[in-house]
Amino acid sequence: MAIEVRLFRPDDAPRLAEIVQRCLREVNSHDYPADIIDKMCAYYTAERFVELSSSRLVYVAEDVKVVGTVSRDGNKVYTMFVDPDLARRGTGRQLMRHIEALAARDGHDHMETGASITAHRFYLELGYTDVHESETEFGLNLILHKPLPSAAPDQ
Ligand SMILES: CC(C)(COP(=O)(O)OP(=O)(O)OC[C@H]1O[C@@H](n2cnc3c(N)ncnc32)[C@H](O)[C@@H]1OP(=O)(O)O)[C@@H](O)C(=O)NCCC(=O)NCCS
Repeated sequence: MAIEVRLFRPDDAPRLAEIVQRCLREVNSHDYPADIIDKMCAYYTAERFVELSSSRLVYVAEDVKVVGTVSRDGNKVYTMFVDPDLARRGTGRQLMRHIEALAARDGHDHMETGASITAHRFYLELGYTDVHESETEFGLNLILHKPLPSAAPDQ
């Protein structure tokens, strides 16, 4: 079944929390210390996704079930996570294409993401380039940009 990207609904929240917790424990834990992983797991609860959805546009990728998520606030990317059992099948790329197209349509000339060390190669592969690094309460964050095509004028 083809994966579709759609906006978050509150009943997605428990599944998104499950995906994020698994990514953090099984994937990001190779690049970040245990105390940071614990702090992030405590932050990304189902309730947090509901709360975040009031200040950002939260998207989910779904086939027979929800397999990944990304959020955007204008041209800024947040909270990109794909079910570790379904990694490297193009879901992350599809989620990014979706929000990049929406940001371009809104008139933004570039996209900005704050990447984990873990996701750095993924973003480079998608055409993002390094801008700077920042230290956050959740550890090292790599800021990358990608130019967006200018939106076609309305007919
Ligand atoms: C990073 C992440 C979102 C990528 O999602 P995904 O669905 O596996 O990515 P895709 O299959 O769309 O990958 C697209 C391309 O990115 C590159 N890529 C993806 N994951 C990669 C990895 N772990 N290492 C190196 N390159 C990678 C590859 O070139 C890949 O294309 P290919 O598989 O044809 O070679 C996912 O692995 C994840 O959730 N990681 C843990 C959580 C995390 O760090 N999130 C980011 C927070 S900023």
